[in-house]
Amino acid sequence: MITNFTDEMDFENRLVTPEYNESDDSSLEVSLRPRTLNDYIGQDKVKENLKIYMDAAKHRGEAMDHVLLYGPPGLGKTTLAGIIASEMGVDIRVTSGPAIEKQGDLAALLTNLNDGDVLFIDEIHRLSRQVEEILYPAMEDHAIDIIIGKGPAARSIRLDLPRFTLVGATTRAGQLTAPLRDRFGVILRLELYTPDELADIVKRSAAVLGTGIDDDGAYEIASRSRGTPRIANRLLKRARDFAEVMGNGVVTKDSASLALSRMEIDPLGLDNIDRLLLTAMIKNYNGGPVGLETIAAAIGEEAITIEDVYEPYLMQIGFLSRTPRGRVVTPAGYRHLGYPMPGTDTNSTQMKMDI
Ligand code: ADE
Repeated sequence: MITNFTDEMDFENRLVTPEYNESDDSSLEVSLRPRTLNDYIGQDKVKENLKIYMDAAKHRGEAMDHVLLYGPPGLGKTTLAGIIASEMGVDIRVTSGPAIEKQGDLAALLTNLNDGDVLFIDEIHRLSRQVEEILYPAMEDHAIDIIIGKGPAARSIRLDLPRFTLVGATTRAGQLTAPLRDRFGVILRLELYTPDELADIVKRSAAVLGTGIDDDGAYEIASRSRGTPRIANRLLKRARDFAEVMGNGVVTKDSASLALSRMEIDPLGLDNIDRLLLTAMIKNYNGGPVGLETIAAAIGEEAITIEDVYEPYLMQIGFLSRTPRGRVVTPAGYRHLGYPMPGTDTNSTQMKMDI
């Protein structure tokens, strides 16, 4: 029998979603964003390379080459775009693929840029084909071709644009068309952060917020933040509430762990939706292999969300693997949830461990 797991699940207001969420007070989140490469913690390879490209462009007096940032949500793609602009001493315009509906919308954005400015397009894989076509000559020749008039009298004129840097961000580099991808001179992949890096981010954010925190408190939050600064900062704000109301205002290991268990976030940062996903695979499909679409139907979530948002962390901690035949829950995943692996009874596991 297939169990229905999805009753009472709140997919939208998940505390540990790496995606931007309305409960993130945006003015506060912006203030937690580092403005310089020096203040930006983690992503060392990306930072080292970016620094060289920016220094070289500055040295030549040119705009920085177009940059594509890709990787799971919440890792600081928008923040990095802001840092590129501030390090290059230029302004940034921020928009997103779905927000640019018509060719004219993009033409208006491009013609309003100043020399050297950064244009940041989030979710760039969601640009329509027509809009994308305007981008090609803009990126390559700093010009756009616009059609004036209609019918037989229509003619195309070429408008020169200022030199600018396009910073594109995507969670799905594979969905970018080849002509667009090929026009980026710099392609950088952001990785999930380690708990040590996240602990440094949490301490920096606590300092910005004026909240006291000790090392163990920061590490407690970091280790439950699924490799994602956006989640770490969100959990820090909630832990601060608990520390203020139930303690002396300082976030410690105890107050952080109390806050996190109240929020049903376990010691590895899994929430009830992650547990639902793994449990559904274990109970309904024997732990897999099971296809992504099947899991999506079983838990009532979109396949693309499962792939981009839930799976990266579950794979990083070794609870889930993607195989050619489908997704599989690993022995570590079974152990974490307290289920015996199929084909092993508790006694035989015990015997193996005793030997
Ligand atoms: N806040 C969010 N992401 C950050 C990062 N990578 N470094 C410092 N502070 C951050």
